[in-house]
Amino acid sequence: MEELSLPPNIVAMMREQGRDPTKDPAAFAEMKKRKEEREQSLISKWNQQNRQQKVKSWLQDSIWSGSRPLNFTFERWEPDMQTNTQLAREVGNSAWKLAKRMIAGEQFNVLMVGEPGTGKTSLALAIADKVFKNAEKPYLFISTMKLFGMFNERFDNPEVGHKLKDLQKKAKQAPILIIDDFGTEAGMKIYNENTGKTHFKPVRKDMQEWLYEVADARYDEYENAHRGSTIVTTNNTSGDLVQMYNPKLISRLITKRKGNTIYFEGLDDMRG
Ligand SMILES: Nc1ncnc2c1ncn2[C@@H]1O[C@H](COP(=O)(O)OP(=O)(O)OP(=O)(O)O)[C@@H](O)[C@H]1O
Ligand SMILES: [Mg+2]
Repeated sequence: MEELSLPPNIVAMMREQGRDPTKDPAAFAEMKKRKEEREQSLISKWNQQNRQQKVKSWLQDSIWSGSRPLNFTFERWEPDMQTNTQLAREVGNSAWKLAKRMIAGEQFNVLMVGEPGTGKTSLALAIADKVFKNAEKPYLFISTMKLFGMFNERFDNPEVGHKLKDLQKKAKQAPILIIDDFGTEAGMKIYNENTGKTHFKPVRKDMQEWLYEVADARYDEYENAHRGSTIVTTNNTSGDLVQMYNPKLISRLITKRKGNTIYFEGLDDMRG
């Protein structure tokens, strides 16, 4: 047995114990094995901690509409709560299928559109939860209303400005990004006396730019492919959304694919 071929740390360890590694191959092999096992267990512990840390950090960076993080799972989706049980079941199944595709590695945008209280946010969270549990892809949740609030606050509070920068960096990179209640920040429709029509006021420019940068980073123009998956929930139609936002943002954020869109029309408001 050549001493040269032995890892120096193992040789040193054996010498400390008064043994000669060149003459005791069995002891050497055993020590090497034990050392590797120890290292392996340290690595896996580190990985586990790192993973938990990562998830924690994504959840900590999320901004929620209420004071507490929300969560939801497919097990909690109850079609029987709805008058149209069949439709509620179909909607749940569609969301489940989208989750499966993400778990299989597909990256795409999802649109969940419908009236308040019909379960859009819940199913967005159920998808994120399932993809995280099955594929270890963490998610970042952004309440659009809260984001809007941060833009209003940022000139009075420089801390909020920094937070927005950090959040944007995270939003660009998140494997799964939920943009919740997109469009509510635009407020009510306003009446235009000249045209006699109602329309939405465009959302403040700085917020539009912030979101555009996120959407652009998550979309590879050259490859015509998405980086990560983005789930948008909204009460608005695409027609409403282009009044509020630059078409370039809408084009990158709002999918036109029917297969990636879930319509909640026909479901009841489940808020008691
Ligand atoms: N099919 C369902 N099974 C169980 N709980 C449901 C179902 N549909 C809705 N809920 C519950 O009803 C409440 C409202 O749902 P959710 O917040 O997902 O609605 P939403 O469509 O996102 O509404 P909004 O447009 O106002 O944001 C939540 O507490 C949610 O968990
Ligand atoms: Mg919602």
